[in-house]
Amino acid sequence: MLPITLFLGFFQAAGLAKSDRLLAAKAFDSASSLLSRAESVVVFTGAGMSKESGIPTFRDALEGLWENFCPEDLATPEAFERDPQRVRDFYEYRREFVRKAKPNAGHLAIAAMESIFPEVIVVTQNVDCLHEAAGSTNVIGLHGEILSNCCNRGCPGTQPGSMTTCPTCGSDSLRPNVVWFGEPLDPILMKRARICVSCASALLVVGTSGAVYPAAGLVDIAVEKGIPFIEINPNKSPFSDHAKLFIPSTAAVALPEIVSRVGREIEALE
Ligand code: APR
Repeated sequence: MLPITLFLGFFQAAGLAKSDRLLAAKAFDSASSLLSRAESVVVFTGAGMSKESGIPTFRDALEGLWENFCPEDLATPEAFERDPQRVRDFYEYRREFVRKAKPNAGHLAIAAMESIFPEVIVVTQNVDCLHEAAGSTNVIGLHGEILSNCCNRGCPGTQPGSMTTCPTCGSDSLRPNVVWFGEPLDPILMKRARICVSCASALLVVGTSGAVYPAAGLVDIAVEKGIPFIEINPNKSPFSDHAKLFIPSTAAVALPEIVSRVGREIEALE
């Protein structure tokens, strides 16, 4: 299957040439026609989804004070055992962005899809809860929630992000409630996500590099099963050549355009 790849350049920038505006409109129309036939849609999101809410991606966050660190120094259970304060400081720095962030127009458009499609499931790798804040009600958060803590020794439950002592084991082991590199994902959540993707009539992939497994494997399922998917990302990913439609734009620009077109298209059919 050849992707309909429309290279729109930076059409999201102000002062677009007329030809770019037409190309952009054509891409949004194609996405809308593809989606308006779908009964159930899974939206799979990554860090790019929240970029326009002011939240840097993990890699972007490794700058300034943190530029000499690598993920193994900051986002693994071993790093936390070695130097809990350093890891907590890094996560406090990241939490500040999340506390200030509000859902962007892309998150709101995804939430609005619930009034258009019979079923919309959001599967996200993001830990900022902005999909829920936007009003999405069916969110599978594969990588946890950054603002709460959990015990690095495996005690059950989550605790407020300000606590450091685990109320169950009494050790100073509370850490951010996120999945770190090398850690397994919650098998039940991952199973639910796989089933949802397998049963979906269309998949929307937004703002993920497709580099981190097992989450990225959800798109592989769509490819294997021939489930059509649309990708929104200013840069190509390993998935792009398999997409039915690759839209080189950002989440907050493309999603509202596409969702409003789908709404109009479905309304016209009724
Ligand atoms: N809109 C859409 N996509 C964007 C935007 C935007 N405004 N800005 C950047 N992107 C794209 C980038 O081109 C890139 O492909 O978002 C992607 C971000 O990639 P990653 O930083 O690798 O994020 P993600 O795929 O979510 O990473 C998965 O890795 O960092 C860990 O645990 C963390 O959940 C994360 C996981």
